[in-house]
Amino acid sequence: MYGHVIITGASSGFGIAYARRLVGECAHMVLVARRKDILMELADELRAANSSLKVTVHACDLASPGARAQLVEYLTELPEGKTLLINNAGLGDYGEYVTSTPERNNQMLQVNVLAVAELTRAVLPRLVKQGGGIINIASLAADLFIPDFAIYAASKAFVASFTEAVRLEVRQAGVPVLAVCPGPVHTGFGEVARRSGCTNGYSPFKKWVYTSVSKVVRGSLEALEQNKPRYYPSRRIRLIGWLLRNTPLGLLRMVMGQRPRKVAPLPEK
Ligand SMILES: NC(=O)c1ccc[n+]([C@@H]2O[C@H](COP(=O)([O-])OP(=O)(O)OC[C@H]3O[C@@H](n4cnc5c(N)ncnc54)[C@H](OP(=O)(O)O)[C@@H]3O)[C@@H](O)[C@H]2O)c1
Repeated sequence: MYGHVIITGASSGFGIAYARRLVGECAHMVLVARRKDILMELADELRAANSSLKVTVHACDLASPGARAQLVEYLTELPEGKTLLINNAGLGDYGEYVTSTPERNNQMLQVNVLAVAELTRAVLPRLVKQGGGIINIASLAADLFIPDFAIYAASKAFVASFTEAVRLEVRQAGVPVLAVCPGPVHTGFGEVARRSGCTNGYSPFKKWVYTSVSKVVRGSLEALEQNKPRYYPSRRIRLIGWLLRNTPLGLLRMVMGQRPRKVAPLPEK
């Protein structure tokens, strides 16, 4: 039972599923995302499911340093209690870096990287003193550089590496810190990552490795309980992750160089 559960990206996909899953396991839930109307609706649903649950809707843009600072202040001032932080908010951008927009790249770095680091720093001292845990949603992409998904994959490599390091730092205090590494999952992610006028990069391979949202959420909460460092939500995903981490870099470069293109290749000079 947690005193506080904080979920970023609670207006869609994994975030909503974490909130529903944890509705009976905390006294206070903080829902963070930009779309306030969806968060308010979810908050009503959660209160109806558990009348003793306090739900706080904290609508904010995690890509804004000012909004993140306000959230950090709010988290720092929460009353005492065992706390679970789920750093779940994130976004991608399918397409070549050369044609990317600086705005979208900045947004990805702020939300996928800076928000994770800052919110973790904000709650870590209380976790060490009062107990709790952190779930950081990384990705299978953390194990691979991905052309046409360059910033996203690099941002998730940050999340996985950061999580592993912090986990070791607070291990003796008994605070579990988990990196979740799903492959493709049906959520709003693909539509957000798709550039206008482009496909979302569907490939038959993706179908083979799709996992359900509920499996990721249930499995990751179990993995946190068992104080595991990483959670890959199926045998296939775990195997792919293992292969990626154990394949010589030269071979990976060769394979990734042959990838199917999501957008037309640039003209050769
Ligand atoms: N789905 C997949 O295939 C997959 C695979 C591996 C990892 N992941 C990771 O899983 C996490 C959750 O994604 P999802 O699949 O559930 O996608 P999703 O359905 O698109 O949800 C993304 C969530 O992040 C929030 N968000 C995005 N930008 C934000 C911002 N600037 N400020 C505040 N909140 C923001 C969105 O809320 P608002 O739009 O309301 O702000 C939304 O609630 C992400 O970190 C993603 O990288 C997804």
